[in-house]
Amino acid sequence: MKQRENWGSRIGFIMAAAGSAVGLGNIWRFPYMAGDNGGGAFILIYLGFVFVIGLSVMIAEFAIGRRTGLAAVGAYKSYSDRWTFAGVIGVLSAFFIMGFYPVVGGWSLAYVFKSLTGLMSDAGAIGDAFGGFIGNPVEPLGWMLVFLVFNILIVAKGIAGGIEKAARILMPTLLVLLAFLTLRSVTLPGASAGLEFIFKPDFSEVSGQTLLAALGQAFFSLSLGMGCMITYGSYLSKKETLPNNALIVTALDVGVAILAGVAIFPALFSFGMEPTAGPGLVFVVVPIIFAEMGAIGPLFGAVFFIALTVAALTSSVSLLEVVVAYLIDQRGMERKKSVYSAGGIMIVTGILSSLSLGVMSGVTIFGVGFFDFFDILTDKIFLAIGGMLLAIFAGWVVKKEDLYDELTNSGEKEFGLFNIWYNLIKYVIPIAVAVVAVMGITDIEQ
Ligand code: PFF
Repeated sequence: MKQRENWGSRIGFIMAAAGSAVGLGNIWRFPYMAGDNGGGAFILIYLGFVFVIGLSVMIAEFAIGRRTGLAAVGAYKSYSDRWTFAGVIGVLSAFFIMGFYPVVGGWSLAYVFKSLTGLMSDAGAIGDAFGGFIGNPVEPLGWMLVFLVFNILIVAKGIAGGIEKAARILMPTLLVLLAFLTLRSVTLPGASAGLEFIFKPDFSEVSGQTLLAALGQAFFSLSLGMGCMITYGSYLSKKETLPNNALIVTALDVGVAILAGVAIFPALFSFGMEPTAGPGLVFVVVPIIFAEMGAIGPLFGAVFFIALTVAALTSSVSLLEVVVAYLIDQRGMERKKSVYSAGGIMIVTGILSSLSLGVMSGVTIFGVGFFDFFDILTDKIFLAIGGMLLAIFAGWVVKKEDLYDELTNSGEKEFGLFNIWYNLIKYVIPIAVAVVAVMGITDIEQ
């Protein structure tokens, strides 16, 4: 039997898993979700979901991936054919997320060049420039294709050679850059209003929708609920301790999201802008911050968008990898061939969702365009269901002893919280996710 590919090193795995988790979800999505949902209260609820639900689900995904040595579909199937559908939902989620993610990745790439070619020469025009750019039928398409081609090239190179190498260099660069931006933002005049917005929770506006948005954001940001971390865990060596690795990845992910919030909101309030600007937030606020910095601004802007593109890339390669690993494990396809077939389909969905923000805005599914449809379908529905199914599967189908064995490396390592974790997975998380999903969905319909 061919030996399964493995990560080259421990730090390589952490960088790759954190690279998957840290992405547009933290820097593009988190700030605008927080802005749209009232700030501090949303962030606190999100943090609660991350540490109680997200971390536990991540530990379970790692355990099941490494135990079975298979990606999502194969892992479920190796226990019971009846569960294959749960893995298939994961593969579908990867396709759907890749329906919109590369579009935003392409925007980010475009902004590297726009930063250097005059975008910041007129701060007042930056908002309109963004609207004009994403609605253009050709330009964003081209950038999206370039972004997708990067993905295809990296994933075709395989695990240790491609994904891991890229993540090891690019993730630390991103952290340094964000820290720098944060410092700049909090020292602007009037920055304290922004800090108050994110750190002083106001629970009066919290609704079922806020809860579902926070839960969806937690799953999305941690790359959970679709088998991505099962897949990454399947490449992990038997020597690693899973709960520790999960904690490190979760802490890094949350750290970056909060840093992004602290980089954006103080500046936003300092410039007298509204926190509810939606998906354009990062693409408008950040260039304005840099525009106000004078001659050096464009260079910093370019570096920021390089970092954002990199963060996006280390996440999108993990999405593509979920589909590719499925084709390799279950369909017996070669790596390169699976990358090209999956990538080909993603080019089509990417084109549809990019055009839905401009010329195709009239074409709607359930009342929204392709971009929003792919986003809402995954973030609000598929990932939550996927996370719930995974918890039910781990709690009720996989043997408790097997999980204990995997999480303690056959009794060699301590996992003192095993019983608490197990009860969370078996009882609390399935119920909590179901309740939040029902509250959120009924709230949307009203
Ligand atoms: N976690 C990524 C982000 O925050 O941008 C997005 C993502 C990657 C979601 C991989 C799901 C996934 F499986």
